[in-house]
Amino acid sequence: MKRIGILTAGGDTPALNATIYGAVERANALKVEIVGLQRGYAGLLDSRVPHVHLNPLFTAIPELDPCKGGTLLGSSRTYLDETHKDRIELVATHVKKLQLDGLICIGGDGTINGMQPIADILPCVLAPKTIDNDLGLNYIDEANEWIRRPTDTNPGYCEELRRSRDEMELEDIINYATPGYATAVYAVAQSLERLRTTAESHRRVAIVEVMGRQSGYIALGAAYAQPDIILIPESPLNLEQLTARIVQLYELQQHVVIVVGEGVRDANGMELGATMPTFDPAGNVRYSGAADAIGQMLTKSLGEHIFSEMRAFEPASSPMFIRKIGHTQRGGRPILFDRFYASQLGGKAVDLLLSGESNEVAILQYERASGFRVSSISANKLRDQWGEIHPRSVHPSFYDARRMQLSATGIDYLHPIFTNAIGADDVECIRTQMFSAGSVRNRYQSVNTDIRKRIRYL
Ligand code: F6P
Repeated sequence: MKRIGILTAGGDTPALNATIYGAVERANALKVEIVGLQRGYAGLLDSRVPHVHLNPLFTAIPELDPCKGGTLLGSSRTYLDETHKDRIELVATHVKKLQLDGLICIGGDGTINGMQPIADILPCVLAPKTIDNDLGLNYIDEANEWIRRPTDTNPGYCEELRRSRDEMELEDIINYATPGYATAVYAVAQSLERLRTTAESHRRVAIVEVMGRQSGYIALGAAYAQPDIILIPESPLNLEQLTARIVQLYELQQHVVIVVGEGVRDANGMELGATMPTFDPAGNVRYSGAADAIGQMLTKSLGEHIFSEMRAFEPASSPMFIRKIGHTQRGGRPILFDRFYASQLGGKAVDLLLSGESNEVAILQYERASGFRVSSISANKLRDQWGEIHPRSVHPSFYDARRMQLSATGIDYLHPIFTNAIGADDVECIRTQMFSAGSVRNRYQSVNTDIRKRIRYL
């Protein structure tokens, strides 16, 4: 294998450049050329196939900075599936013209589904990324536990996970954590710490929405900032219980901080943030406001009287405030945990291709005795019996639905990731770069401007 392509697809994460960097460094050592394809699968479909040689003379180009968030290759939510015959043929033509011997796709569940038809054309491997931490399995058989129940509505069935295990062993998790997750949780924890003191001062109820689609991992990780209540999509909202807990906490501490995963559902399974759903190009629901919906419910269920004593003589407006942490979770410098394992997984992806693997996924495994190690698994093991790869959900044993908090097993799960997740250089970087004199004098220099000068076309 002499020439490998690499692309980043789906929503970006802070650790993408670190993964690309790991792949390029490994390729340099093995004297393999790496070609970066622009804008994920969309770039492979573009008739001119914009691409960048990432390691001329087997040295990484200087624009590739593993400490910088985003991706110097750009990304898109354009995917392929096996019904797109003409698109697959186009990809085959482009791959041949580029003389690629293999392809590394950096992405999550959408990217791996999109990689399946391409794996029939040339060897492909996936290096994982997603802030949602939903790529993988809670245990090896989980993908086989999906069933399809017939319904009258389109597409004629609904999917359901019939779990065989109520309890789980951390060492059984397939792909324990995904690069991007730790930095997203760090951003959330920092924001919560700031929101806490202002809610505390003004006797308010803060409802803070975090990302994660149908998976509540980011909301769970927020536990490090000690929110009073955590609501995750995997556990249906119980409004009565939530209201009672808020009243209790408000009486005790005169403010409450609630973290809401954006995909939170009511008892009937309806996604509260998607009452008027819009979809991204990959067909994923764009959540418009689970926190808003919960805020409206609480305005009714709490009534005004609980605020009247603590907030006497203040205007009646906004004893509650609702904030979305939003895309700050996806951006910025990756913290040490993400940088380190992202680059290892990027390197592993190169090794997998060179050892003749295809349709494999580089993964991060955990062992109590020795910590983390990179490994791999066939993408087929992640597929259900109909071939679909589902986002991993938070296992019920990680969440205490009665307390609306992380369970003891959930605490055990988070510790290996977050203990020492921040490096001394991450802290030093804030000290030296945040208020650097050069920043106020000079314009922002975008990597897009620099990379454009290196882009070649077919
Ligand atoms: O999948 C990553 C993610 O950040 C989700 O957590 C979120 O729902 C979605 O992407 C947001 O996507 P967009 O960039 O289209 O707003």
